[in-house]
This record gives sequence, C-alpha cells and structure tokens, in this order.
Amino acid sequence: MKAFDIYRYDPEAERNPRIDTFEIDLDDCGPMVLDALIWIKNKVDPALTFRRSCREGVCGSCAMNMDGTNWLACTRFISDMSPSATIFPLANLPIIKDLVPDTTHLFAQYEMIEPWLHAETPVPEKERLQSPEERSQLDGSYECILCFCCTSGCPSHWWNGDRFLGPAALLQAYRWLADSRDEAKEERLDTLEDPFRLYRCHTILNCTRTCPKGLNPGKAIAEIKKMVIERDS
Ligand code: FES
Repeated sequence: MKAFDIYRYDPEAERNPRIDTFEIDLDDCGPMVLDALIWIKNKVDPALTFRRSCREGVCGSCAMNMDGTNWLACTRFISDMSPSATIFPLANLPIIKDLVPDTTHLFAQYEMIEPWLHAETPVPEKERLQSPEERSQLDGSYECILCFCCTSGCPSHWWNGDRFLGPAALLQAYRWLADSRDEAKEERLDTLEDPFRLYRCHTILNCTRTCPKGLNPGKAIAEIKKMVIERDS
C-alpha cells in the first residue's frame, strides 16, 4: 500500500481547500503517479479531478506538483515518491478544481509571442527548406510541450506574472527567433525588448531544473537577451 496526500478544492462547495489522504493498492495499480490518480478516481473517489490525455509525456496536460517539484504525473514513478507523498496543482495559478489549474493567462502570454512562421517571401512550390545545421538550431526548444512546469516554478513570474512572459513563452519566442525560415526577427525582438516581458528573468533557473523534457529555458532567455544587445549595439 502507498499513501498520497492530495490537494482538494471544489469551487461549488463554498469551503476552504483541504488535503485528502488516499491509500493505493500498489498490486492493483500501474507504476506511475498518473496511474495512482486514475486508480483513486476509478475505485475510491470519482470526483477527484485532474487533466491527462496522452499518458506518455507528450501532451503536457498532467503537469502538477509532486513532493514539492513540478513534473508530469505520467512520467513520475510512484516508487520515486517520498514516504509522505504529496500531490498539489501547479503553483501560482488560479485553481479550477482539485489538481486542475487555470492556464488561460499562460496561453494568452504564449499567443503574444506569435508562435507561428512569419514570412513575406512567396511560398515556394514545395516546403521552405532548411539545411541540417539550420534545423539543428531548433533542438532544445521545439520539444517544449507547454506543460508550464517551468513558468509555475518561476519566482519572477510569481511576482510579475501579469507582465513578465515567463520561461515557457520565452523559450517558444526563442524557438521562432532561431528559425532560419522566419523573417520577423526584428519585430519579434521589438515585442520582447521590455523591462518586464523579457528582463524580469533574473536567471534563478528553477525553470531549467524543473523541465520534465530536459530543456533549458534559462539559456534560451539568455540567448534572446544577447540578440537584443547585438541588434542594438
Ligand atoms: S498525460 Fe500527456 S504529458 Fe502526461
């Protein structure tokens, strides 16, 4: 058996959030924390609410805080949890219910960086080509699954999340700045060159420590700052 302390909040119950403790039968449950949550929902409490879809670390929807660390519930082994395992929703976000945060603001910030190709040159007959070297510039940024473990774990975003874009959106901003096919580098840098949007990053690097895909948003943000300096010098 294994016990989990899980954050519960029901906006319709008109009472404060609480912690519920559930005992999981490990012989009857899959190996991942997400399996444990599904086990609880199916066998003990159908009201337990959480997001999940792919169950293999590619959709980003099961991001939550486990034992104090943001990660994906579908890629965290139950055996790696502490004896007094805790599961909370991602921090610093409004909570819709139980383990489901409201990510509306984070996706609005993502939209602000215009995460699509900007190109004025006529569309070629086939695709817009890149050399293998140009394509390799996207490694380390295109893999982001927008789980927002990084942004939720960023103290600068806790304090200035209304204006600081946060590591997830800035990593994606870098992804388009680094794309040889994109023709809007100047406009993209204009949007980012702002005391808050970009420069509220103080290289605390919680983002890089917590990324479940092993990416380095802190380095991408530093690269954007370098691009701004080189452009303006
Ligand atoms: S369910 Fe898709 S990342 Fe976990």
